[in-house]
Amino acid sequence: MKKKLKRFAFYRSIRFYIMILLFVIGIVPSIVVESVIVQSYETRAVNQRTIMVKSQCEILADQLYNRGYLTDSSDEVINGEFDLLTRIYGGRIVVINNDGKVIKDTFNIDNGKYSLSQEVMDCLNGRESSRYDRDNKFIELTFRIQDPDKKSSSVNTKGVLLVSVSTSEISISKGILEERGMLILAIIILVILVLGYILSGILVKPLQKITQAIEGITDGYQDESISVNDYRETKLITDAFNRMLARVKTVDDSRDEFVSNVSHELKTPLTSMKVLADVLNQNPDAPIEEYQEFMKDISAEIDRENSIITDLLTLVRMDKKSADLNITNVNINDELEQIIKRLKPIADKAGVELILDSFRPITAEVDQTKISLAFTNIIENAIKYNKPEGGWVRISLNADRKYFYTTISDNGIGIPEESINNIFERFYRVDKSHSREIGGTGLGLAITKKVIVMHRGAIRVKSKLGEGTTFSIRIPLVHIV
Ligand SMILES: Nc1ncnc2c1ncn2[C@@H]1O[C@H](COP(=O)(O)OP(=O)(O)OP(=O)(O)O)[C@@H](O)[C@H]1O
Ligand SMILES: [Mg+2]
Repeated sequence: MKKKLKRFAFYRSIRFYIMILLFVIGIVPSIVVESVIVQSYETRAVNQRTIMVKSQCEILADQLYNRGYLTDSSDEVINGEFDLLTRIYGGRIVVINNDGKVIKDTFNIDNGKYSLSQEVMDCLNGRESSRYDRDNKFIELTFRIQDPDKKSSSVNTKGVLLVSVSTSEISISKGILEERGMLILAIIILVILVLGYILSGILVKPLQKITQAIEGITDGYQDESISVNDYRETKLITDAFNRMLARVKTVDDSRDEFVSNVSHELKTPLTSMKVLADVLNQNPDAPIEEYQEFMKDISAEIDRENSIITDLLTLVRMDKKSADLNITNVNINDELEQIIKRLKPIADKAGVELILDSFRPITAEVDQTKISLAFTNIIENAIKYNKPEGGWVRISLNADRKYFYTTISDNGIGIPEESINNIFERFYRVDKSHSREIGGTGLGLAITKKVIVMHRGAIRVKSKLGEGTTFSIRIPLVHIV
């Protein structure tokens, strides 16, 4: 239940992020476009209105001068025009003379008062202005009243025509535009959310499928594999998973194999010892020679038991991080000769010839015991897995400035291609039944590889079934920490 909930939360979060992403990608530009459209509408409308009012008022200002309105504000024609203009634009017209005195206010508020606002002062000084007050919804314009023939000089300014026109219809239109924009935005949001939900669902579905497929095989994964080929990526994931599964299976099989092998290997010497001891117990009068012989056999079995346990312990110890190398300068030629000398009796017994080709004297910084163990394991294998007759093992040693190279070739039974990649795995043995007769636990090469890797070296193997095997090893002459 808890697992299910966790999974649900995980998927929901992927969906959530996809939806947020779509939302941002879709909504942000929509909002920007909407506000740009509304804004440019407002600017255009205000500009148009300003141009229209300006062209009419410039003519009006000239008329004011020509008809001497500044001295006589009762001029019917002009007042009629004021009436018309204020009605059309819903505005206010104020005429101020060059003393700053209001001589006409169509709102009849400031008549006779002095109005010396900044705009009026500026205009009297020759600078006409136009200002849009968005908050109070009006445009305010000032025009100079002056002799139309001497317009260039600000000294001639005789008065100011101050015109305010309402922009409330522009605001209303803008409001309508904004409302529509919001409606469209809301529709876009809705569409994006629905699309996002569907799309994220489609994207997440293969992940759910993969989880289901994996859960389906967690218990009995032995021969199963999963396949979710909806997308290239899911195929890659499932392929990688299947490869991992295969590896786990190999390791698992090897472990089972190991447990049975080790138990068997450890039990065999015990069983022999038990039999030997029982025979002696049942024959208390057996001659001393028989006792001695049996004791010798028991001792050999104890040695075997001991060597298996030593192998296991060697590997376990090397697994630990703290495993240290005891580095000294070692004469590799001598070392190989020693190993060959030690293995000679076994080789002779198996009818295998041992040949050493040393191309030059080599000294390297290595852990003598561990390196010796690694080479012994490989040469021992080459003897063990050889022909019943006419077998040979050829060991060659060479070096360059950085590394020394050893190859160990045999003309033995060879390793099948499908097993080549597994032989360094612990407890792996190619032919279980046969290997058991020969003896061994499948730990030799695992130990060897570990030792070589600890020395920052490399090991490769080439083999052909029925023809023979060659192991090539490369180890740095100077120890790299
Ligand atoms: N030179 C070789 N020729 C053919 N097969 C080999 C050779 N070397 C190794 N093998 C195969 O690789 C397997 C693993 O070798 P490894 O040395 O790890 O284990 P082992 O020899 O079976 O046991 P151990 O070395 O632990 O006593 C062997 O069981 C054998 O099947
Ligand atoms: Mg071996």
